[in-house]
Amino acid sequence: MVRKYVSIIGSGPSGFYTAHHLLQNVKVPLEVTIWERLPVPFGLSRYGVAPDHPNVKNCEDTFTDTVKDVMGKDSIHKFNFIGNCEVGKDIELSKLLSKQDAVVLSYGCATDRKLGIPGENDTTGVFTSRQFVNWYNGHPDFALHPKFMDFDWKSVKNVGIIGNGNVALDLARLLLSNNVDSIWGRTDISPIALNKLREAPIENVKLIARRDFPNSKFTNKELREMWLLEEYGVRGHIDSKFFTPEEWEMKEQVRSFRRCVDLCSEYVKPFELRSAKYKKLPQPTNGIFTKNWELDYLKTPLEILKDETTGYIKSLKLCNNTLTKANKVIPHEEETMSYEVDLLITSLGYKGSAMAGFEELGVQFDNAKVTNKQGRVLNTEGNEIPRLYTSGWIGRGASGVILATMTNAFKVADNILKDLNVLPTREGTSLPSLQNIRYTTWDDAQKILKFEQEKGEQVSKPREKLLTIEEMLQVVNK
Ligand SMILES: Cc1cc2nc3c(=O)[nH]c(=O)nc-3n(C[C@H](O)[C@H](O)[C@H](O)COP(=O)(O)OP(=O)(O)OC[C@H]3O[C@@H](n4cnc5c(N)ncnc54)[C@H](O)[C@@H]3O)c2cc1C
Ligand SMILES: NC(=O)c1ccc[n+]([C@@H]2O[C@H](COP(=O)([O-])OP(=O)(O)OC[C@H]3O[C@@H](n4cnc5c(N)ncnc54)[C@H](OP(=O)(O)O)[C@@H]3O)[C@@H](O)[C@H]2O)c1
Repeated sequence: MVRKYVSIIGSGPSGFYTAHHLLQNVKVPLEVTIWERLPVPFGLSRYGVAPDHPNVKNCEDTFTDTVKDVMGKDSIHKFNFIGNCEVGKDIELSKLLSKQDAVVLSYGCATDRKLGIPGENDTTGVFTSRQFVNWYNGHPDFALHPKFMDFDWKSVKNVGIIGNGNVALDLARLLLSNNVDSIWGRTDISPIALNKLREAPIENVKLIARRDFPNSKFTNKELREMWLLEEYGVRGHIDSKFFTPEEWEMKEQVRSFRRCVDLCSEYVKPFELRSAKYKKLPQPTNGIFTKNWELDYLKTPLEILKDETTGYIKSLKLCNNTLTKANKVIPHEEETMSYEVDLLITSLGYKGSAMAGFEELGVQFDNAKVTNKQGRVLNTEGNEIPRLYTSGWIGRGASGVILATMTNAFKVADNILKDLNVLPTREGTSLPSLQNIRYTTWDDAQKILKFEQEKGEQVSKPREKLLTIEEMLQVVNK
């Protein structure tokens, strides 16, 4: 039987789930190659998911098992990992496409949504959620970045986070529990970042949303974790003007929202007034709260003000807003206010960017994602580009948990399999030349991961990540 060749660009959950599904279901011998910009695999599972949620990263075991199966001696399939190699920069996309039966764009969304207000890009102490998350997760792009390393963490008491998605909650949870060793001490958080964060005498974290409570983006499990920080002397608040269940026709609401309202209705009460179910949960340590967080709503950020001498953030200027029936935000610029903050994180969501080489192939890239029809990439005329596919965040937009990413990847893989059955077999399929590229193989990547695990074991952590590409390559060269 003729072997088929599929290249997948990106080794995050979408890339690996696409590979997994292809390899599980293909009827002919298949060679899958996963290309990855970093020397090690797993994308946001490694560099996004919060370190105190290690179970979420179990998908990495599934991916590793997939590779083990393919590399086993009974397998008719083949697998290559080519890390430390950026498609679009080190390898031309058109060249790759001309040499494979199919190419899948699974390279995720690695830029930031922006507010577009004065002070956003040039004020010390203003970070995007992606930068911040990458920093504490030890991503080589940010792990040792001066923006974080030179920042005076000792001055951070009041924090503003714009947005209230689950990433905003990850950030708030970390900042408010920065000194709780039982949460962070045994995780794979970057120790350098943790030490810096520990210096910050954080007292207040405000989660600032442009819409109202019913439009909150977080999910219940993550919100509950915030309330449970009470155990560590951290108290949550929602102003009663924003939390108005009596106006929300609760019976008509979906179950998850009803639960969310129940949760908040109980937790905004003092401990002794809560129903029995909520009293079973950990009691606040001696009832004294040293830190506070607040869900704030219906605010539009207008400007970030800084100290002209130091360049450090001083405050965030905002105004009230209202929502139209169609949920459009109407700012009232005559009703302004100012929040004094020492640190501001814009947690507005991630954004995809076009890959170099899209123009040459005519790839349609709109709305920060690759335009596609069930994973088949469209050109600027709206026609399918033969053999080019997309899965995961870069094809769907930067939203959805790993499970949703998996479901999408499986559907795309099914379509690739259908097409592989009918597309004529390509002559001369091969990988483009890797000459002059210091790429890592799967074995190299495993060597790095093993090294990190062994380093972690010595301090009872799942791993201690290497923070630079140079260090990773040194381990490979050992
Ligand atoms: C901060 C954060 C926390 C999250 N926490 C959770 C959680 O707790 N639970 C949950 O279920 N979901 C969580 N998610 C969502 C989850 O991470 C996504 O659903 C999933 O990672 C999307 O997978 P992806 O493969 O599309 O993108 P990614 O995971 O971003 O993977 C893309 C990969 O492509 C690589 N790449 C990029 N450009 C190139 C190139 N040119 N050439 C080669 N490689 C390239 C990148 O380095 C990366 O490894 C979280 C998301 C974020 C942002
Ligand atoms: N534990 C977990 O399961 C977990 C953890 C982290 C992430 N994730 C998932 O990863 C995905 C991404 O999460 P995310 O938090 O980055 O994104 P998100 O859920 O899309 O939230 C983005 C937030 O930014 C706000 N926002 C966007 N543009 C804005 C603007 N111009 N001005 C003011 N506010 C603005 C949004 O408000 P509007 O709603 O008004 O647009 C929203 O509150 C989600 O699917 C999330 O569930 C899951």
